Amino acid sequence: LLDDNRLDILLEERLPEKILHLFHNIGQLADEANVKVYVVGGFVRDLLLGVENLDIDLVVEGDGIAFSTRLARFLRARLRVHEKFGTAMLVWDDQKIDVATARREFYQHPAALPQVEASNLRQDLYRRDFTINALAIQLNLPAFGYLVDFFSGRRDLEQGLIRVLYNLSFVEDPTRIIRAIRFEQRYGFMMEAETLEFAHEAISRKMIGEVSFERMFDELLLILQEKNPVPALCRVTEFGIWEFFLPDLQWSDGLESELANVTTLQHLLKEQQWWDSKSQWISYFLVLTKHLKPDGIEVALQRYPLKLWIREAIVTISEEGFRVAQELDKWLKGGKNSELDEILQGWSVEAFLSLRATYPVQETILLLEAWQAIRKTSISITGNDIKALGIKPGPIYGEIMNRLRVERLDGTVQSSEEERQRLREILIELGYGSKD
Ligand code: CTP
Repeated sequence: LLDDNRLDILLEERLPEKILHLFHNIGQLADEANVKVYVVGGFVRDLLLGVENLDIDLVVEGDGIAFSTRLARFLRARLRVHEKFGTAMLVWDDQKIDVATARREFYQHPAALPQVEASNLRQDLYRRDFTINALAIQLNLPAFGYLVDFFSGRRDLEQGLIRVLYNLSFVEDPTRIIRAIRFEQRYGFMMEAETLEFAHEAISRKMIGEVSFERMFDELLLILQEKNPVPALCRVTEFGIWEFFLPDLQWSDGLESELANVTTLQHLLKEQQWWDSKSQWISYFLVLTKHLKPDGIEVALQRYPLKLWIREAIVTISEEGFRVAQELDKWLKGGKNSELDEILQGWSVEAFLSLRATYPVQETILLLEAWQAIRKTSISITGNDIKALGIKPGPIYGEIMNRLRVERLDGTVQSSEEERQRLREILIELGYGSKD
C-alpha cells in the first residue's frame, strides 16, 4: 500500500522534463533548508487524472518566504512576496510557481475572507474545498514523489466524487458550491450525497447572496472559460442559483441551444486560429445578457466590472441586434462584400457570435468567412498618393479612400494598378483635373 503512494514513476512519465528537473531541484533545496516542501492542489489532482495542468502550487512546512527567496535565487527567477499571507510568487521562464507557508485558516464570520496563521500540511489541506483538491506530493529527495492523502482524495478521484472536507465548508465559502458544479461537469464527476445536501442547505439559506458581486463574477467567468460551459450552466439552473448571477434570467431550451451553438462556432474559430480562447467567456456572457429584459441588463451592468466595449456590446445587441440579424439574413441571399462590411461596422467577433447563436451554424460560418476576408482587405493607395496628385488635404481624402475600399471589396478593382487607375477616374468624376 505504501508503494502505491510512490508517484515518482508517474511523475517521470507524465511531466515535461523541465518540470521534473525543477521538482528535483526544489526537493534538494528543501533538504538543504531543512523544510518540507509539497506540490499540492489542482496540479496533483490533474496529474492523477492524466489531465495537463502546469499551475504549480507549493506548500512549505516551515518558513515559506525564506524558502521562496532561496528558490528564486537558485533559479534566478523573479519573486514577489506577500509577507502578510506568508506567500510568494515566482516567475521562472514563463512558469509561475506559487509558494505558501502551510497555514490554518479560520473565518471570523460566514462568507468573510479568512484569517490566517502558520500551521502544518494537514491543516493547510484541511481548510481547502474538496478532497480531490487536498492531495499533496512531497518533493524532498528522500521522499520524492510520495503522495500525501489525508482525506482519501485519491479514492474520490477514482470514484468520481466531489466531497467537502468539513460540514461548514459551503457556509464559510459559498463560492465552493459553484466550484463543485464546475469540477463535476469538467470531469464528469458527481457531488457525493452528503456534500450535495450541504450545498442544497447553503443555497436554501441564501448563503450565496453574501458573496460580493466581484467574486460571483469571477466564478461565472471561470464557468464560461471551461472547455464546454453548457453542462455547468444547466446545473446552475437545476440548483436554482441564477438569481445570484443574473437575476431575471429565464433559462430555456432555446437559450441552452444558443449556448451550444456558441461552443460549436468557437471550436471552429479556434481551429482556424481566428480566436483567442482567453475571451471565450465573452460570447457566452453576451448570449446570457441577450436573454435579459432591460431591467436585468441594468443590474448586470451595475454589478459587474465589465470593460467598456463589452458594456457597449450588451447594449448594442439589445437595441440593434434584431435589425442587424435581419440584415445579415438578407445579405446571405446575395449581398456584396461592401454591404456586409457596412452591416458589421463596429461589431466584434464575440458580439457577432452571440447574435448569430439562434441561426444555423453553417450560414454563420459563411458570414464569418466573408467577414474575415473583408477584414484582411486593405487598399494600397494612401493619403500621400492623393497628395502627390496635387489635391489639397481635407475630408475628400476619406471619401476617396472609402470609395476605393468599397470597389476593392466588391472586386471591381483588383490590384494596386487598378486602384491607381480608379483613383484618377474618381478625381475626374469629382471635378479635379481633366482626362489629359
Ligand atoms: N480553494 C478553496 N476554496 C476556494 C478556492 C480555492 O479551497 N474557494 C483551494 C482549492 O483546494 C484549490 C486551491 O485552493 O485546489 C487553488 O485554487 P485554484 O487555483 O482556483 O484551483 P484549481 O483547483 O487548480 O482549479 P482550476 O483547475 O480550475 O484552476
